[in-house]
Amino acid sequence: MPRILSGIKPTGLPHIGNYFGMMRPAIEWQERGEAFYFIADYHALTTLHDAALLRKYSHSVALDFLACGLDPQKATLFRQSDIHGIGQLTWILGTLTPMPMLENAHAYKAAVSSGGAASVNLGTFAYPVLMAIDILIYQSNIVPVGRDQKQHVEMTRDLAVKFNRTFGETFTIPEPSILPGVETIVGLDGRKMSKSYDNTIELFAEEKSLRKKVMAIVTDSTPVEAPKDPAGSAIVELYRLFASSESVADMENRFRSGGAGYGDFKKELFAAMWSYFEPMRRRRAELEADPGYVENVLAAGAERANALAAETVRKVRQATGLQPAQNI
Ligand code: TRP
Repeated sequence: MPRILSGIKPTGLPHIGNYFGMMRPAIEWQERGEAFYFIADYHALTTLHDAALLRKYSHSVALDFLACGLDPQKATLFRQSDIHGIGQLTWILGTLTPMPMLENAHAYKAAVSSGGAASVNLGTFAYPVLMAIDILIYQSNIVPVGRDQKQHVEMTRDLAVKFNRTFGETFTIPEPSILPGVETIVGLDGRKMSKSYDNTIELFAEEKSLRKKVMAIVTDSTPVEAPKDPAGSAIVELYRLFASSESVADMENRFRSGGAGYGDFKKELFAAMWSYFEPMRRRRAELEADPGYVENVLAAGAERANALAAETVRKVRQATGLQPAQNI
């Protein structure tokens, strides 16, 4: 049974991009191995410095994940910050990490180019080392991630190989698993759906606000009666996620034939989206009615994940010449 691991950063309420890019594949993977999924709250701290928001988002990510079908009997769900040893192993791996490797990370370069070098903290710079430890501490085999995270998994592999060469076989070398087709979900403005572009559609937004968002999808000004090009339309792209291929083909034909406005297509998209998430919304309401449920799942998950992590911490301390931990 392969050990599967992935993480999601609680920097906002989960949106459709998170669902198709990370949550749904993770839920499928839980059938195929020993799955470990965590809320990457240490990672979120690199950009989110608001205690109430961090608590809110961490809880919502866990709740939404469970509502969408994560089964705590099959997969282990936990919070990154509940795992002892993440901090110390990140430090230790950092001592083997070349500066140019980190300077070359896409996420770091993007942070420098958007906010200037002075806006980037050590946490953002060291992000790939923390992420490597997230993966290596459980001796994971497979890491399902979006394409944007592939480079981080490659760095993880390089660092694990370097550690093993330096100190002896300690870490399992993981493989990324990139799901074709779902790695980029288009956002409301036609760019990639991302919290940083403010173009997301939350999974469990209220009906009214979700409808409003869908109606706000950016389109051109082709008049109602004129034919429209379905290729590259954010409406069609999103509809594809929620409707059967026949329904998509039908919408594409009606784009081409003209006579229907973008507003009509947006209404169809909204209806498809709303009914797609209906069972998950119901499940979420049930889970929410039991106030201790999410915390209990996370506590049980942390216990299982800590048991694995402690074994790796022991090996790493032994391999590097540090004293065995008295108390990690
Ligand atoms: N960096 C990932 C993201 O931004 C989240 C993450 C943190 C992660 N640690 C991980 C994903 C380990 C996979 C494995 O989406």
